[in-house]
Amino acid sequence: MALLEIQNISMNFGGLKAIKDLSFSIESGEIRGLIGPNGAGKTTLFNVISGVYRPSKGKLFFNNQDITLIKPHATAKLGLVRTFQSITLFKNFSVLKNVLIGRHLHSHYNFLGSLFNSSGTRRYEKENEDRALEILEFMNLLKYKDELALNLPHGHQRALGISIALAAEPTLLMLDEPVTGMNTEETAAMMGLINKINKNGITILIIEHDMKVVMGLCHKITVLNFGQKIAEGTPEEIRLNQEVHEAYLGGEEYAS
Ligand SMILES: Nc1ncnc2c1ncn2[C@@H]1O[C@H](COP(=O)(O)OP(=O)(O)OP(=O)(O)O)[C@@H](O)[C@H]1O
Ligand SMILES: [Mg+2]
Repeated sequence: MALLEIQNISMNFGGLKAIKDLSFSIESGEIRGLIGPNGAGKTTLFNVISGVYRPSKGKLFFNNQDITLIKPHATAKLGLVRTFQSITLFKNFSVLKNVLIGRHLHSHYNFLGSLFNSSGTRRYEKENEDRALEILEFMNLLKYKDELALNLPHGHQRALGISIALAAEPTLLMLDEPVTGMNTEETAAMMGLINKINKNGITILIIEHDMKVVMGLCHKITVLNFGQKIAEGTPEEIRLNQEVHEAYLGGEEYAS
């Protein structure tokens, strides 16, 4: 079975059908693109997969486990972690503290146990800090570890958002528009980082409007329009797909 199976998912908000009978699956090791015009239902699908919304219909399986009714706080423990379309950082904390919070939020750590076992606690905290520093080094943020998050340039703030997600040790990392607002240089750096994360064995599902990023990064792309899948294939197949071009007609964003 695939790592993530989306089976006949529908999501209604009152009378609005944001996702309609959507099915697709993601294999372990992939970088999968999820594209489509504004309002197509991309972020809604992330919210359904990560348990923020309960789907109106259909089923979701992650690692052969039925996660259709899962609660948001339970997804990270399974290895399913997402970032948000807008930057969500603890802006008045240091860069290192942000990643440590990311670890604490998702840890299996028994807080009560820690009260009675201080040497265990210290070992746990040391391991956590070592891992957080490793993640910062991996994301090229180590030299900013003591800087307040709010002082980082935009590109580094987004990299920190991904570092917080990595702190939860994901199997599947879902990125919602990771290069929005970035200049060319920052975008290229972020593409390099996403590739590096994937090479480390993490499967990636990425929503992105920047077609250079999507085409340059993804092994396969799924296209949504008005909540329905209208195409799926390699970047080359999607580039040549007439229905995809028509869906984007009038939008300037599909300049590949
Ligand atoms: N909580 C909600 N309540 C009501 N309607 C919603 C809610 N969340 C999303 N929608 C609607 O569902 C549709 C899909 O929205 P969604 O945010 O998933 O689009 P998107 O593909 O992520 O778009 P964008 O590229 O602009 O981020 C839109 O019509 C949106 O207004
Ligand atoms: Mg969105």
